[in-house]
Amino acid sequence: MSGARPHVVVTRCLPEAVEAALDARYRCTFNPADVPMSGAALAAALATADGLLPVVSDRLDRAVWHAARDITGGAPLRCRVVANCGVGVDHIDLDAARVAGVPVTNTPDVLTEDTADLALALLLMAARRLGEAERLVRAGRWAGLAPTHHPGRSPAGKMLGVVGYGRIGRALARKAHDALGMRVQYLARRPVADAEPWATAAPSLDALLETSDVVSLHCPATPETHHLMNAATLARMRPGAILVNTARGSVVDEGALAAALRDGPLAAAGLDVYEQEPAVHPALLALENVVLLPHLGSATVETRTAMGMRAVANLDAVFAGRAPPDRVR
Ligand code: DGY
Repeated sequence: MSGARPHVVVTRCLPEAVEAALDARYRCTFNPADVPMSGAALAAALATADGLLPVVSDRLDRAVWHAARDITGGAPLRCRVVANCGVGVDHIDLDAARVAGVPVTNTPDVLTEDTADLALALLLMAARRLGEAERLVRAGRWAGLAPTHHPGRSPAGKMLGVVGYGRIGRALARKAHDALGMRVQYLARRPVADAEPWATAAPSLDALLETSDVVSLHCPATPETHHLMNAATLARMRPGAILVNTARGSVVDEGALAAALRDGPLAAAGLDVYEQEPAVHPALLALENVVLLPHLGSATVETRTAMGMRAVANLDAVFAGRAPPDRVR
């Protein structure tokens, strides 16, 4: 890189190694207080910085892109790339980015295994009622082992239905099949040519819901998947079934999920993502049979570092005049 170092706004604290790599290459504005940036601050960054490195909690919606354009008085934005640190980009208005001529990149692959691990953990926590059990011990309400106390359900031999058979859904399928002995069916947007011999394609969402003991969501948040799981689709699930969501909160109607957990047919659910993060639907908070995690899918030191480094590689490519490896659009 020659000349003045590009100015990059980094919206949240990142692992030390990532911030060091950024600092060595760019003139960075970091956020040591780690307070979410306002829409106005994000717009200012798009208008005046050379690059922006946001995360999923930064909403770069149409209003923010318009506000950025207002700052430049209609002239092109200074920002040459939005290098998102995360794979999902539903928090970024990609059409507005395209109109503004700003490429958006993400960080695929590196978070696959950890996110699938978290889905597996939620599956087990929900099936074995581990959230409830832990709360019971902490509350001093455990009276010692009794054979009929706190029974869960064994996943072995049960049918896992994976909705969205991309990298993460597929990794979960492999782990659940190999480690837990589950049977697997999946729903994919396109035929999966190299599907595993033990995984079968479900003909439709209804068919998958009606024949799965556990349903795990791995589809992106799009207008088509908004409230994919609603009162009608939840009602199609088997009595005693479990729903796991590590994808995006908007895929599930949380009010309808709370009703299905309270009145049936669901026995339990495990959630890592919510419609209005960090808010959680109050009806879910009141239920014992739902495990609630705070969007931890990729939250390991190893993966968060790898994600940050992948975002750095995308910045590096753009500022070196090359195509970024992970351009979304
Ligand atoms: C992702 O990568 O999309 C995760 O949800 C964390 O941002």
